[in-house]
Amino acid sequence: MSASVPIVRTVAALRAQVRDWHAAGETVGLIPTMGALHAGHLSLVAAALARYDRAVATLFVNPKQFNDPADYAKYPRTEDSDAAKLAAADAHLLYCPNPEEMYPDGFATNIIVSGVSAGLCGGTRPGHFDGVATVCTKLFLQSGADGAFFGEKDYQQLKVVQRFVADLDIPIVIHPCETVRDRDGLALSSRNQHLSAEERAIAPAMNRAMRDAAARIRAGADAATALAGASETILAAGYNRIDYLEARREADLSRDFAPGEPARIFAAAFLGETRLIDNIPIG
Ligand code: PAJ
Repeated sequence: MSASVPIVRTVAALRAQVRDWHAAGETVGLIPTMGALHAGHLSLVAAALARYDRAVATLFVNPKQFNDPADYAKYPRTEDSDAAKLAAADAHLLYCPNPEEMYPDGFATNIIVSGVSAGLCGGTRPGHFDGVATVCTKLFLQSGADGAFFGEKDYQQLKVVQRFVADLDIPIVIHPCETVRDRDGLALSSRNQHLSAEERAIAPAMNRAMRDAAARIRAGADAATALAGASETILAAGYNRIDYLEARREADLSRDFAPGEPARIFAAAFLGETRLIDNIPIG
């Protein structure tokens, strides 16, 4: 375990470090984050260290992917404790881009991915995935990393990233990583810290209802009926509002899939003021 992790704040410093590593024959894995790090993020660092010589985490609360300014304002900002966690996880570098260098005056480019970004979070958070795709494109090109690690917790985001990397011939390998959960099934999320004790006790009801619906669909139940039941259960448990609860094909997130084809259940719902998302495989 290293005492601290070096921090760079400019594209030039990031590129110089990656250039030195590449010159020494070392490979580099990137872990893009918005900070408030938890065991889910740190599992990506571990996955990067298992495949690459160097692990570079990035921390940038990206204004372009927040469609609600209040959500952006209240997003946790905890750079010091994030840096300590990354040091303990043996990450080699933390890149904290400076917002003026990321989006200088006159910035006018947007990466827009169609298809996989339609519906689900793309339906209820307009512009969100344009912001994600734009910032990830910049992070990939700024770093020149060989691989990048993304959690299945944000499955639609993972699909959007895989799509633009393929479409734009960006030379980076995208590595999906399984969702890390608390013992009661709640997916770890930086947003969980906004939950009151009472809300935290209710929170795992969404994942439980999703697992129950997946089991019913596997047993031959009609997906729409199983999901309608899950939706009632989630609301009865104390969630205030469901954004979406849907089954989609894994390959392209289309609504139509044949029995036996890999598919997932996707959910987003509000518990008090906090919007939680989750997804699980059906098969
Ligand atoms: P953030 O929400 O900080 O998540 C950073 C990465 O951690 C994402 O790849 C996300 O899927 C992964 N992650 C979050 N919770 C996880 C969990 N419980 N298990 C496994 N992985 C988990 O996602 C973003 O930031 C941003 O959109 C970003 C890609 C950094 C672009 O700004």
